[in-house]
Amino acid sequence: MPALVLLGAQWGDEGKGKATDLLGGSVDYVVRYQGGNNAGHTVVVGDQKYALHLLPSGILSPGCIPVIGNGVVVDPSVLLSELSGLNERGVDTSKLLISGNAHIITPYNVTIDKVTERFLGKRRIGTTGRGIGPTYADKINRVGIRVQDLYDESILTQKVEAALDVKNQILTKLYNRRAIAANQVVEELLGYAEQLKPYVADTVLILNKALDEDKVVLFEGGQGTLLDIDHGTYPFVTSSNPTAGGACTGSGVGPTRISRVIGILKAYTTRVGAGPFPTELFDEDGEALRRIGGERGVTTGRDRRCGWFDAVIARYATRVNGLTDFFLTKLDVLTGWEQIPVCVAYEIDGQRVEELPYSQTDFHHAKPIYEYLPGWQEDITKAKTFSDLPKNAQNYVKALEEMSGAPISAIGVGPGRDETIQINSFL
Ligand code: GDP
Ligand code: IMO
Ligand code: MG
Repeated sequence: MPALVLLGAQWGDEGKGKATDLLGGSVDYVVRYQGGNNAGHTVVVGDQKYALHLLPSGILSPGCIPVIGNGVVVDPSVLLSELSGLNERGVDTSKLLISGNAHIITPYNVTIDKVTERFLGKRRIGTTGRGIGPTYADKINRVGIRVQDLYDESILTQKVEAALDVKNQILTKLYNRRAIAANQVVEELLGYAEQLKPYVADTVLILNKALDEDKVVLFEGGQGTLLDIDHGTYPFVTSSNPTAGGACTGSGVGPTRISRVIGILKAYTTRVGAGPFPTELFDEDGEALRRIGGERGVTTGRDRRCGWFDAVIARYATRVNGLTDFFLTKLDVLTGWEQIPVCVAYEIDGQRVEELPYSQTDFHHAKPIYEYLPGWQEDITKAKTFSDLPKNAQNYVKALEEMSGAPISAIGVGPGRDETIQINSFL
């Protein structure tokens, strides 16, 4: 039975947290498969607002088992403080499962993330500074520390010493920083081991058995398609695979078991950090989208860059993820415009281009070609069905669907769980 993937179709912050939470009541497991506490997912339940970074948004649904898969990078101090923050608010977190194969974000990885960005100066990526890139680099370089290493002091010590051998050379000789003492790192990491132990499990086995028993498993992506290390706007990307394939490698569940891939798509576009963004606005429209949409980063508090909807990107997301559905979010934010520009293609060096160019240089030169769709003035936040929407809002949704290449099966008209129009069921 069904394994569903829910992922960001743009540059992150599309509303994945809300969408996952909405489904949380009907699924048995919610699995994070990549990224770490670079993610910031806001979930609004009644009058309560939760900001989750590392924990899957399913943690807020009592019947659901939250899982941190092997593809995730885990900062133990962040994880423990997120858990205790939720416990203080009465959320039961005891069912959490963490893969023993997930990699640990060590304190030196956080340091290296920050000093590297500083060193890059104008060329910086604008990372969240959470140690994500250096931790994935260690994983690929085979000098990473895994959750299971916390339970073997001798192995942990050897691995931290090996990792720091090279890093201390870089820190002291290249970046002019103090060396980091291996024993202090080991001591800090061992200090988390006991608290984390009840959650550590063979998540690959558990998830596959759950699917054998017809349980419903939902994979919740962090970041978004255009931030994917392989398919995003490299090098202005994150260091993991938020795209659908990442759900398999990051959890140990094979692709044949995945029945549905849902792309979360904002009704306009935002981006945090550096990198190309063809429909970015620098005028009062951009300011209005930021203000009305509350477009400020949940993790870093940075203002998000805002722009109009980009159908070229949506089509690309459909293709690289094999999307079966879209969940269109924040349609309510667009209320009040006379007409709404939608980017249907790019102009690159005088040529009309319909699909995302593979060349980074071309993408940097892409200028949006807009079509102008009539706007609406009515409040749509109370709409429960598609026909409750004003005609122009209906037409906007239909036009986006046609341009984007997959059916829009749900529409967000507000941040709350119930502020959603469900068109087709996801299960
Ligand atoms: P995520 O990282 O993809 O989970 O998204 P974020 O939580 O970073 O950003 C999305 C923001 O939009 C959050 O503040 C949500 O509460 C909010 N949100 C989600 N869906 C809707 C919607 O349909 N309408 C409005 N107005 N806000 C929404
Ligand atoms: P959610 O899950 C938006 C961006 C950073 C930076 C780039 C690399 O909330 O959608 P990193 O720290 O990952 O090495 O930074 O990726 N970024 C995000 N942007 N939403 C996110 O997560 C992001 N996670 C990372 O701003 O440009
Ligand atoms: Mg976010």
